[in-house]
Amino acid sequence: ELTAIFADMGFSIAEGPHIEDDFHNFTALNIPADHPARQEMDTFYFPEAENGSRMLLRTHTSPVQIRTMMAQKPPIRIIAPGRVYRCDSDQTHTPMFHQIEGLIIDEETHMGHLKWVLQEFCKAFFEVPQLNMRFRPSFFPFTEPSMEVDIQCDRSRPGEVRFGEGTDWMEILGCGMVHPSVIRNCGLDPDEYQGFAFGMGVDRLAMLKYGAPDLRDFFNSDQRWLGHYGFS
Ligand code: DAH
Repeated sequence: ELTAIFADMGFSIAEGPHIEDDFHNFTALNIPADHPARQEMDTFYFPEAENGSRMLLRTHTSPVQIRTMMAQKPPIRIIAPGRVYRCDSDQTHTPMFHQIEGLIIDEETHMGHLKWVLQEFCKAFFEVPQLNMRFRPSFFPFTEPSMEVDIQCDRSRPGEVRFGEGTDWMEILGCGMVHPSVIRNCGLDPDEYQGFAFGMGVDRLAMLKYGAPDLRDFFNSDQRWLGHYGFS
């Protein structure tokens, strides 16, 4: 459903390996050596290889940005859905979950394009004709400027969230203009090319849309639960 919305907007689908190396998952994305995301605690690392390097289970879909920019010349317009892994487990976190990453690299792509794409996506996904969005300044090492996006919602009814109405806000994704260092790390000239990226949690979006309270249920394969939420 998510990928289809972006495919309709002209994005093509890209995929990357689940077992990644440090370069693609962290370094090329401008994530410094001492960044907390690299800690043992949060990332599933494989045993050290003979040359001292360690493979890992990718912690986000962002490495697909790197693989795509290194493999093809702009204009680039991709969407990268897939599994990601983090040492985390509670009602809203599972050690394996799904993200969808978007990347556009071109000569003059700017933040206005980013806002339009996300607006159209949210309307299509939440099936509402209009929906207010809020772009909040944030920080990601791989984008500059970076933003988090909140969408308008109504939480005044107990146990129910409605999107596209009301005065509450719900955070749904991270995004920004791709950092010049990331473009350079992929062998492209940041004076020639620029663009935007965004990333969101697919399972989290599904929880919001269907009002499912516990993320772990998505992976328990209980037929009654799947039928209840209308998943075939
Ligand atoms: N990789 C980030 C995460 O896992 C999500 C993200 C944020 C992806 C901003 C992006 C971006 O492409 O521009 O938390």
